[in-house]
Amino acid sequence: MKINLTNIKKSEKLLNIGECVAIPTETVYGLAGNAYSNSACKKIFKLKKRPKNNPLIVHYYNKKNLKQDCSYNRSFLKLYKKFCPGPITFILDLKKGSKISKIATNKLNTLAVRFPKHPVARCLLKKLNFPLAAPSANLSSRVSSVSSSDVKEDFGKKIKYVLEGGRSTIGLESTIIDLRDKPSILRLGGLKISEIQKVLNKKIKISNTNSNILSPGQFKIHYSPGIPVRLNIKKMKKEEAYISIKREGKDKPNCFFLSKNGNLNEAAKNLYSTLRKIKKKNYKSIAVGKIPNKGLGKTINDRLMRASKF
Ligand code: TXA
Ligand code: MG
Repeated sequence: MKINLTNIKKSEKLLNIGECVAIPTETVYGLAGNAYSNSACKKIFKLKKRPKNNPLIVHYYNKKNLKQDCSYNRSFLKLYKKFCPGPITFILDLKKGSKISKIATNKLNTLAVRFPKHPVARCLLKKLNFPLAAPSANLSSRVSSVSSSDVKEDFGKKIKYVLEGGRSTIGLESTIIDLRDKPSILRLGGLKISEIQKVLNKKIKISNTNSNILSPGQFKIHYSPGIPVRLNIKKMKKEEAYISIKREGKDKPNCFFLSKNGNLNEAAKNLYSTLRKIKKKNYKSIAVGKIPNKGLGKTINDRLMRASKF
């Protein structure tokens, strides 16, 4: 993708004066602000209507920039080498002298850290002299944005600027791994657990329960399209929209498929835009067919399960 330097400059200027800008990443769009600035972080919470106790994830250009804020171990280095920049978020210990805003972390002594791969995000991060706090650019508890028009749909003129970066190529949020003690997965995401296990050479436990903030993004209602979602459905009701993993039979106006022939990466990329599309067409509910529970299908099922709690 060609990078428009005028757009980068505009974002840079706004971020430098403490404003928020929506930025593209390969997973989903983020609502970004200076992670060292209390007022910029406050603006993010306000715009998203996000509960104060749900800390922000912080984006860095590379690990050299991270060094002043967090400490890390060998597991981090292994995963960083293999997957970064990319769709993985690490929970690390904050260093004492870290400049990260206490508003961003809700005074926790840990930080969620990510190195996005999207070339536009990387170009911007390289130019700034602070990291970017950037939760997904959607209203709290709703479906994430995978394009600039999704962001505009959610926030309208409330956001000063949306940096264009085309459609997010992965379409699901990053996989979150807590590396402080025994590695554990806190959120399934765009990087398959099997890939992570291969690099760390061990089985990793998934601890995405609803218990507390250490199970992030995991409030009961999340990723909701705003209408009821029913799962593992073979037969839809009359006026429902129906989502299947692959194209089946003749196209019908109320039938949507996530991929042509069941490819799970393609399905992941299309999930959120399909949920948004259905809502915009004014369907009152959604029925979803069975999605294979392997690879990114696990993440898709995780999101649909949460969406169905609406
Ligand atoms: O792919 C992504 O991760 C996207 C893009 C924009 O980078 N971001 C994203 O942010 O999904 P958000 O805020 O929607 O999800 C990040 C999750 C939140 O659910 C939050 O609870 C969790 O990370 N989190 C943040 N700081 C944490 C911490 N110190 N410990 C545990 N979880 C944390
Ligand atoms: Mg989110």
